[in-house]
Amino acid sequence: MSILILFQSFKVADEIFTYKDDSSNSYIIIKDMGNSEEKKEIESSEEKKDLNLELLFSEANLEEGRKIAKQCVACHDFSNNQKIKIGPPLWKIVGRQSADIENFKYSEALNNFKKDWSKEELFFFLEKPKDYIKGTKMVYKGLVKTSDRVDLITYLESLK
Ligand code: HEC
Repeated sequence: MSILILFQSFKVADEIFTYKDDSSNSYIIIKDMGNSEEKKEIESSEEKKDLNLELLFSEANLEEGRKIAKQCVACHDFSNNQKIKIGPPLWKIVGRQSADIENFKYSEALNNFKKDWSKEELFFFLEKPKDYIKGTKMVYKGLVKTSDRVDLITYLESLK
C-alpha cells in the first residue's frame, strides 16, 4: 500500500513540470521529465524558443519581413504619411504606446491594453491577435511561424 502511494506521488510530480509566468510570458521548466517522448515535445515547443527572443532577433531577415508585411497593407499604412485606413498607421510602431493614434477609433479592448509596443509585445500579439487582446477589432488570423514574426517585426522596426 505505501509503495503504491509513493508511486502515485511521483506521477503527480512528473506532471507539474512547467508553469507559465504571466509577467514575462515565458515558460520556465522547473522539473525535468523522465519520459523522453514528452521531453522532446517541450524542447521543440514554441514557448521554449520564446525564451530566447534576443537570439531569434539576431537571426532576423528584414527583406523577408518586408514581404510578410504585404499581409498588413490592406489595413495599415506603413509610410510616414500616417494615413488612417481600416487600421491605424504603423509608422514608428516599435516602441510606440498602444492605441496612440489620435484620430483612430480603437476598440475598447485595445484602449484598455495600455502597453508600449515593444518587440516582445508585438511578437506575442501577432501570433494570434484575437487571443492576445480579447475583443480587438483587428481581423487577422496571425502568424504562427516564429521566424515570420521576428522577420516582420524587424521590418516594422525600420519604419522610422
Ligand atoms: C483586416 C484588417 C487588418 C489587417 C490585415 C491587419 N490589421 Fe492590424 N489592426 C487592424 C485594426 C482594425 C486595428 C485596431 C484594433 C483595435 O482597435 O482593436 C489594428 C491594430 C494593430 C496594431 C495596434 C496599433 C496601435 O496603434 O496600438 C498593430 C501593432 C497592428 N495592427 C499590426 C498589424 C500587422 C503587423 C499586420 C500584418 C501582419 C496587421 N496588423 C494586419 C486591422 C488589420
